[in-house]
Amino acid sequence: EKGGFEHFMMKEIHEQPKAARDTIGHYIVDEAINLSDISTQIAQLDGIEQIYIVACGSAYHVGIAAQYIIEDFAGVPVRVDLASEFRYRKPLLKKSDLVIVISQSGETADSLAALRLAVDQEIPTLAIVNVLGSSIAREAGDVLYTYAGPEIAVATTKAYSTQLLICYVLAVEWGLAKGRISDEEYHRLIKEIESLPAKMDRTLEDKERIQWFASKFANAHDMFFIGRGIDYAISMEGSLKMKEISYVHSEAYAAGELKHGTISLIEDGTLTVGILTQPDLYEKTISNMVEVKSRGGYIMGLTSYGNYNVEDTAHFTVYIPKTDPHFATSLAIIPLQLMGYYVSVSKGLDVDKPRNLAKSVTVE
Ligand code: M6R
Repeated sequence: EKGGFEHFMMKEIHEQPKAARDTIGHYIVDEAINLSDISTQIAQLDGIEQIYIVACGSAYHVGIAAQYIIEDFAGVPVRVDLASEFRYRKPLLKKSDLVIVISQSGETADSLAALRLAVDQEIPTLAIVNVLGSSIAREAGDVLYTYAGPEIAVATTKAYSTQLLICYVLAVEWGLAKGRISDEEYHRLIKEIESLPAKMDRTLEDKERIQWFASKFANAHDMFFIGRGIDYAISMEGSLKMKEISYVHSEAYAAGELKHGTISLIEDGTLTVGILTQPDLYEKTISNMVEVKSRGGYIMGLTSYGNYNVEDTAHFTVYIPKTDPHFATSLAIIPLQLMGYYVSVSKGLDVDKPRNLAKSVTVE
């Protein structure tokens, strides 16, 4: 049942290219985006002035990445909320809003309550869900399913990756609908999305090098993941993977925020992972990595092939294939999933069922 892998998590990490192909195959047909599963109002963002993305955990991190991409492509403001906050903060929803709820299980109590709050006020709702016929899928106005297949490991990998892909497809379609993306750009972006599964396969080939590196951090107490923009969204998910299955305290920081307090935590040898997939922000994040290094921090860089000057600052560098920067999360997350996995394995922990956690959080 684990397909020759020691743990479900590793099996599911390896299933990501296939899950991505299946999801892309559903929503991109004959080189065009196909959103026929949902109403044209939402597919074309007709009369929608503001988008809320509401979710928990990793699905929330998808929302953070999607925020940058949708705002960039479609020019519509996006606000991302934790479902547990959204449901109690009396959000000022309007009929011209769209509330998107993202959930693998479709049963997360806070996400379901957030959805109901929007449905009760007759606000347009869209769910991005993996489990067919789950509560969130049934109650949302419209649903886009991720085609990740069943996910068993508590730590999400392939569901997260397919959620991202749906957000890419929505952002590109909305960009075209709003006249902010040309036909030519639309086709270039579609090709780029279609090339991601093969690039995921290539990223997985670096597995052993990451295993070697991760095994050196089995005794780490703290880790930091830093980045700006989409790289900050990637940092959040990388950090959650690490703490969730490896029980290593880790934090994600917007790189520019470190010097406002957190940098005092850097000690000799503290691992800081600097994420650099956004060319317009490279230099800024590198300067933060230099600051950490000069305080004794051990630096891992995560960047795209070709960006070799990262090695001037990082002690260890992992490269991912080049893609459009908007889609880099899909590739950069793989080495970070592997890091979390291998630190957990080095510590002899129960990777698939970490302590205190459940796959589906059906109580608030
Ligand atoms: O089923 P959901 O996507 O609604 O679950 C949300 C979170 O509980 C989930 O993403 C959690 O953070 C994962 N265990 C992280 O790997």
